[in-house]
Amino acid sequence: MESSVKGTRVLRVNRENPPEGSLQIAADILRSGGLVAFPTETVYGLGADTTNAEAVRKIFKAKDRPGDNPLIVHVADVDDVSFAAAVVPAPAQALMEKFWPGPLTLVLPRSDRIADVVSCGLPTVAVRMPDHPVARALIRAAGVPLAAPSANLSGRPSPTTAEHVLEDLAGRIDCLIDAGETGIGVESTIIDLTVDPPALLRPGGITPEQICAVIGPVFQGATVSGQVELGEQPKAPGMKYSHYAPIADLVLVEGAPSRVAAKINDLIVEYSREGRRVGVMATAENRGAYMAHVVLEVGSMQRPATIATALFATLRAFDRHKVDVVLAEGIPPKGIGLAVMNRLRKAAGGRVIEV
Ligand code: TXA
Ligand code: MG
Repeated sequence: MESSVKGTRVLRVNRENPPEGSLQIAADILRSGGLVAFPTETVYGLGADTTNAEAVRKIFKAKDRPGDNPLIVHVADVDDVSFAAAVVPAPAQALMEKFWPGPLTLVLPRSDRIADVVSCGLPTVAVRMPDHPVARALIRAAGVPLAAPSANLSGRPSPTTAEHVLEDLAGRIDCLIDAGETGIGVESTIIDLTVDPPALLRPGGITPEQICAVIGPVFQGATVSGQVELGEQPKAPGMKYSHYAPIADLVLVEGAPSRVAAKINDLIVEYSREGRRVGVMATAENRGAYMAHVVLEVGSMQRPATIATALFATLRAFDRHKVDVVLAEGIPPKGIGLAVMNRLRKAAGGRVIEV
């Protein structure tokens, strides 16, 4: 099914069985240097031909992305990693065997086949093989790995539905393949294998515990928790920018669940008195505890994967409710909870209260 929004072609396809015709249309656009947004198992990506510098530059323009924030190369098959990477060390091989296709990005020495601008001139390249039938079918149809950041305007929450992509990028990109919601909801884990020991640069769908079980200890800097110290230079350039923010100010409250709920209730009173319209991002467990203008349930603390799935859509929903401030409950930074807290702390941009 095809439609058009502000000149962006929208191809709606079945996730398991995307029609060849739609894939060919999108692949032709990519091969001729255009931009195509497509679903992955984490979030929607905005793809361009990795070998075409001109096309890759359009990604930065469409997203308003800072020119020093490199892109992840997406491959369809394990063997294609050597197209993008000059060397694949043994630990990388072990991680690929265990977690690909899946939400794990490996930073490796860069090959000269992909355009410089993909890595913003760095000697390394980030590579991943997405676990989504549409993403992999599209890469195969294009016949070349795709450079793809998340398909949002820079600084906005990553898109987990086609509607989110259109909210930010309609009219700025050539084509969008809509295959419904993405699933995991937070972006891939990034691990740098060009340093010893390997360093976790961004927490995501694959947890540090899972990675350590395969390759042993990994270095975890402060950026992983989402608390960037002033003056510190994060290794994944993207981690230094304020990110994932709804339009309202987000205040994150961390601590024991009962104290968190009590503090949020105090803050609701305080902000309401100032005439501000208050939203609360609540876990299922605490949802009933709040009397705010807008209370949105993001998922269950018992099942943090549900919170990851709904996190970005919920942040965007607060914009529609036109709240001035969002009070968000913190969750334990364990397993995928670490990825959720990394995104929330960055969205809060320093407005974090510990109780
Ligand atoms: O799940 C994902 O990874 C999604 C989907 C679309 O695949 N993509 C994604 O891309 O999150 P993006 O551009 O939003 O985030 C890429 C991150 C940035 O923080 C960037 O700095 C880092 O990867 N990165 C890319 N290349 C790098 C490199 N050579 N060295 C270190 N960090 C790199
Ligand atoms: Mg992004």
